[in-house]
Amino acid sequence: MSIKLPPYTFDDFQVGMKIKSQGLTITETHIIQFAELTGDYNPLHINEIFAKDTIFEGRVAHGLLTLSIAFGLFVPLVAGTTIALLEVSSKFLKPVKIGDTIYVITEVVDKRPSNKYNGGVITFKHEVKNQNEETVAIIETKLLLARDLALKKNVLKH
Ligand SMILES: CC(C)(COP(=O)(O)OP(=O)(O)OC[C@H]1O[C@@H](n2cnc3c(N)ncnc32)[C@H](O)[C@@H]1OP(=O)(O)O)[C@@H](O)C(=O)NCCC(=O)NCCS
Repeated sequence: MSIKLPPYTFDDFQVGMKIKSQGLTITETHIIQFAELTGDYNPLHINEIFAKDTIFEGRVAHGLLTLSIAFGLFVPLVAGTTIALLEVSSKFLKPVKIGDTIYVITEVVDKRPSNKYNGGVITFKHEVKNQNEETVAIIETKLLLARDLALKKNVLKH
């Protein structure tokens, strides 16, 4: 039996497929760099004294950082075959703290061919889990994926 390595094309993904990413440990550096990059200096993320008195009893990762890291863990599957990211939605169910290790289980929930591009739209559900196998976030994305590498030759209609 041969196994195809990523990146995967539109045709490689089938509805119902589930793929697990590698894990990544969230560090203080991730949080500080994300705060600096985005300007989101909410004390929940950058002020331990403040955060200790909140429902989280300590600093938590920005929800959008968790989203971004989770998406980054998924990206190797589609790096080179993505024509465009179309949609993102997310639910944050449990806090992610410094030292937590998260990974992503991605499921293909829908696919349809595009009229305009040689490929189509795939809807993915990404379940983000921590080291205790608790689901910390659920993310849905829609990506326009090519049947081959995502190069200009994939445009079928102008
Ligand atoms: C926020 C959190 C503590 C809530 O947990 P909880 O108290 O067990 O959750 P509940 O289901 O009882 O929700 C509390 C309230 O929020 C509402 N709520 C929860 N999720 C919601 C959603 N996605 N949309 C709208 N309302 C929602 C509930 O309806 C409930 O409302 P009520 O007080 O009127 O009944 C938990 O989900 C959490 O830790 N999430 C992670 C948050 C996070 O880390 N964000 C990024 C950093 S700030």
